[in-house]
Amino acid sequence: MLNIPQDKLPHHIAIIMDGNGRWAKKKGLPRIEGHRVGMEKIREIMDICFKMGIKILTLYAFSQQNWNRPPREVNFLMSRFGRYLDKEEKDLKKKKVQLRVIGRRDNLSSSLKEKIKRVTLSTQNNQGFILNLAISYGGQEEIVDAVRAISLAVKKGVISPQDINKELFKRYLYTPDIPYPDLLIRTGGEFRVSNFLLWQIAYTEIWVTPVYWPDFNEEHFLEALRDYAKRDRRFGRIKEK
Ligand code: IPE
Ligand code: IPE
Ligand code: MG
Repeated sequence: MLNIPQDKLPHHIAIIMDGNGRWAKKKGLPRIEGHRVGMEKIREIMDICFKMGIKILTLYAFSQQNWNRPPREVNFLMSRFGRYLDKEEKDLKKKKVQLRVIGRRDNLSSSLKEKIKRVTLSTQNNQGFILNLAISYGGQEEIVDAVRAISLAVKKGVISPQDINKELFKRYLYTPDIPYPDLLIRTGGEFRVSNFLLWQIAYTEIWVTPVYWPDFNEEHFLEALRDYAKRDRRFGRIKEK
């Protein structure tokens, strides 16, 4: 399917699934139609990851700032997340996917919180693949939450300020045990990160495509992987002769 050696493939891919609204508008449909089709894409992209041997996928589904959208759109998205969990639970289990949800839960409805709890619990021992859904997520908020938790630990005397370093900080993030993303894909053409995984993407390779998320398919995904395979990830060093 793709002549890329396994060691040139990303281990963890993060995607900013953007462009649902513009996709719908282009077709003369209401924005929520874009979200409906967009949610259907998740399974398709995850299945390509399985085929390619990619182990972790983090998807930006709803940002902390997206709460500022009209209630009708927000409510539609929230009900779709619940529906996704109900509909996909069986398939996630069958495919040995461990589902995780990152973000601030306080704004979510109790019914959605229940569903998240149910599916994350019922898949927590799956080792095949990690699907990490960012819902009500903000990167700055995640850092603030980590700082709060660390401050509390210092106050309680569990750690001292001298213990704080990058490794310790990572342990207080929403994804303490997951390696940072190797590749960040943004659909919809915007060259910005929109508050996604700010700490984690320090050395992540970035791929932006103008394709709207509901149109994003295997061909586009493989194009991103091919480009990633050619990148020279130097991490500040110089190329070895
Ligand atoms: C991404 O698509 C989905 C969410 C942010 C929830 P948008 O809804 O942002 O679509 P555009 O960017 O307006 O086209
Ligand atoms: C980022 O898209 C959030 C998600 C894809 C969930 P937005 O559409 O909210 O980002 P901005 O407003 O263009 O920065
Ligand atoms: Mg957008």
